[in-house]
Amino acid sequence: MGQRNMWSRTRALTKVLCAVSIALTAVPGRVVAADAAFGQYLSSECVTCHRTDGQDVGIPSIVGWPADQFVSVLKSYRNKERSNPIMQSAAGRLSNDEMEALAAYYAALRRVPQGQSCEQQSGAAAAGKPC
Ligand code: HEC
Repeated sequence: MGQRNMWSRTRALTKVLCAVSIALTAVPGRVVAADAAFGQYLSSECVTCHRTDGQDVGIPSIVGWPADQFVSVLKSYRNKERSNPIMQSAAGRLSNDEMEALAAYYAALRRVPQGQSCEQQSGAAAAGKPC
């Protein structure tokens, strides 16, 4: 008898835990979307040097990086482990939250094949999105 009660309690608890984990996994999706929009806003400074189509014209491409790597590179400029003075000052003005927003935005951008312009990427230009 006692064991049966335990079992049904365990099942009830499992249901609660499932509901909680579904709720928790739903939240980051929304946060990431909000971050990327904020990141796009913040990127107005970055795009004067870094292209959004991922092509390297003397200044390295920063699109499509894993977000955590992107943040750690920006931090290494901010704390002067990386020596480039331009990026030290650009990263020096950013908070951790801003770096994460920029990382979310740039991680979502895709590299356009060399020699193609953004407009030639199917759909991206028509949708008015960066590519
Ligand atoms: C004035 C031009 C300029 C601006 C503005 C600028 N960058 Fe940079 N960025 C550079 C240059 C040049 C490098 C290469 C530096 C080096 O060799 O370490 C670089 C490097 C980087 C890298 C590392 C790339 C790699 O391959 O290692 C990241 C990430 C980056 N920038 C992100 C940003 C972000 C995000 C912004 C906006 C907040 C920004 N940059 C603004 C010129 C700029």
